[in-house]
Amino acid sequence: MKIGFIGTGAITTAMVEGLCTTENPPSDIVVSPRNKNKAEKLAARFENVRIAGDNQIVIDECDCIVLAVVPQIAAPVLGALHFRKKQQIISVIAIKLISEIKSLVDPATDIIRAIPLPTAARHMGPIAFFPYTSWADKIFRDIGDSIAVNDEKELGIIAAITALMAPYYALMEAVCRWGVAAGMDSKASGSYVGSMFQAISVLARESSADCFENLAAEASTPGGLNEQALKEIRKQDGFDAFTKALDVVLARLKGSSAGC
Ligand SMILES: NC(=O)c1ccc[n+]([C@@H]2O[C@H](COP(=O)([O-])OP(=O)(O)OC[C@H]3O[C@@H](n4cnc5c(N)ncnc54)[C@H](OP(=O)(O)O)[C@@H]3O)[C@@H](O)[C@H]2O)c1
Repeated sequence: MKIGFIGTGAITTAMVEGLCTTENPPSDIVVSPRNKNKAEKLAARFENVRIAGDNQIVIDECDCIVLAVVPQIAAPVLGALHFRKKQQIISVIAIKLISEIKSLVDPATDIIRAIPLPTAARHMGPIAFFPYTSWADKIFRDIGDSIAVNDEKELGIIAAITALMAPYYALMEAVCRWGVAAGMDSKASGSYVGSMFQAISVLARESSADCFENLAAEASTPGGLNEQALKEIRKQDGFDAFTKALDVVLARLKGSSAGC
């Protein structure tokens, strides 16, 4: 399959890296010339990646097209291109509904929306998409956990949840700094926090999805340190800060008509 990318930025770089490092990489990947630096790096690194002369050449040469420009320029950029009826379209453009994308890629109708993450570069992490199609599922399985959702409303909720990546890293940073302030060596603090968060995240992922509460209970030995820390955070409504942030992000997405 020939896969083309319109918009060679952060998420295209991650998806191309992921696709090119699977056991069966696509025979041909064609990227648009912007961003020049990122496109050149991908083409230099992977034999099967080529840079097209312009966006229309990407469309003309590929069967499956990934739309990966920022939403603000989606209409002028895509509206100027000529798609084919039988093309498969993956839009990773935030906020834009399938109905909006449809009008921009007419006459193509085989369109899905997806939310890949930068972790796709390492074949990790969720890739939520809608509607389910076997061709998209096959592509996403190679670069992460392919998760078909029920409608665009769920995609909107997932988009809000993805906003917790930066807060998660910031929590790790805060814990790390606290360790240093309490007297730890900064390198040891960083290594310890990174390794601990990684290990407990892997355990949580491998447990069944509805039992995060059980994991918290299991880690909370009666009278122990985890139980004490959990009680303290709950007493200060610490987790409410996260769910309130999610409410605000979701409200913003709803305001931009992302189908949530
Ligand atoms: N980053 C993520 O984790 C993530 C995850 C899921 C979805 N998304 C969505 O994916 C889309 C792209 O995000 P991103 O993070 O990859 O953004 P980005 O790094 O800013 O990439 C967008 C790319 O589009 C290029 N571009 C600008 N004008 C163009 C044109 N006329 N034709 C073709 N390409 C053009 C830009 O090139 P220049 O640098 O030369 O301007 C830039 O490289 C967004 O809609 C975003 O919401 C991102």
